[in-house]
Amino acid sequence: MRMMTQRYVVIWLGLVLFLVILTACEHDTEVAESTEALEPVMDKGNNPNDSADDTIKIGFSMDTLEEERWLKDRELFKEELEALGAEVEIMVANENASVQISQAETLISSGIDLLVVVPYNTETAAAIVEKAHLAGIKVLSYDRIIKNANIDLYVSFDNEMVGELQAEAIKQLVPTGNYVYIGGPVTDNNAILVKKGVFHVLKPSIDRGEITVVYDQWTEDWNPDNAYKNMLAALEANDNQVDAVIAANDATAGGAIRALAEKGLAGIPVAGQDADLAAAQRIVKGTQTMTAYKPIRALAQRAAELAVKLASGETIDTDNKINNGKIEVPSVLLAPIEVNQHNIDQTIIADGFHTRTEVYGD
Ligand code: BGC
Repeated sequence: MRMMTQRYVVIWLGLVLFLVILTACEHDTEVAESTEALEPVMDKGNNPNDSADDTIKIGFSMDTLEEERWLKDRELFKEELEALGAEVEIMVANENASVQISQAETLISSGIDLLVVVPYNTETAAAIVEKAHLAGIKVLSYDRIIKNANIDLYVSFDNEMVGELQAEAIKQLVPTGNYVYIGGPVTDNNAILVKKGVFHVLKPSIDRGEITVVYDQWTEDWNPDNAYKNMLAALEANDNQVDAVIAANDATAGGAIRALAEKGLAGIPVAGQDADLAAAQRIVKGTQTMTAYKPIRALAQRAAELAVKLASGETIDTDNKINNGKIEVPSVLLAPIEVNQHNIDQTIIADGFHTRTEVYGD
């Protein structure tokens, strides 16, 4: 009787064990299946940069829309990105370094795949790069380089060449005499590069005593009023004995030309940069000698193409590398073009940058 009971207990225990193992196996299968099904969903959830669809989303953090060119940059970069199937979110910091950092934070947390930055301040914008990288987002420096940061790519024009074109044009017209240099702001690396290009060309003549730079100042925020004040100060300090002016862009050239006109000196050679409409009009009128023209469509196109590649995880290899104080940044630099009275029709007008009517009037 006892033996019988023991046998029943063993059989019963065996049955229970069998059932337990069976249930566990079924459960394992369920877990495995559900993990498989969940994986892609969980990936999306963990990475804020993956949008629900596959559309590439680019954040564009701009410094300013003050100068005419940036309106073109905004419109054309958006157009080029959209033509490549990407979306773009644009924020403008209105020349405020801390506003630009907080706008960049907003863009970073909005699920972008890449951040494109035109820095207001070449140095402090490094914080933006760090924040983007912490979120796993690469950074493309657009037109202006960000110093001392691990930026992933830099796309711009050759800014030193801008200065060289300016100085060569003016030196040809004024091989000897008193020069005034109206720079951009020292907070923009482009202003530093343009100045380097100018003085690279002028140096031999300065060394020979043929050219004297009688005034040389930075212009805060590229502001035409500041340039106007600088030019007035230059004229006062030199009893109006000024033979030529090189200004870092057309906005500052405009300010300088206003001061020259007030002193009855309109018409002395002045160089600028950007091919702003006002500058093109001054060129045909004869109050500005030249402008270094940068076809913005070409920049926007190249930057958009590379931005989409970077955002898709492609590595961009460029022949050019520029040291930004921290790393050798892969860089693409386009060539600026000298525009003067003689070639304005074949350059900015032929390109549709400005129409003939806009430039010459009716
Ligand atoms: C750009 C110029 C522009 C200036 C003022 C520079 O960094 O290269 O084209 O005129 O900023 O916005």
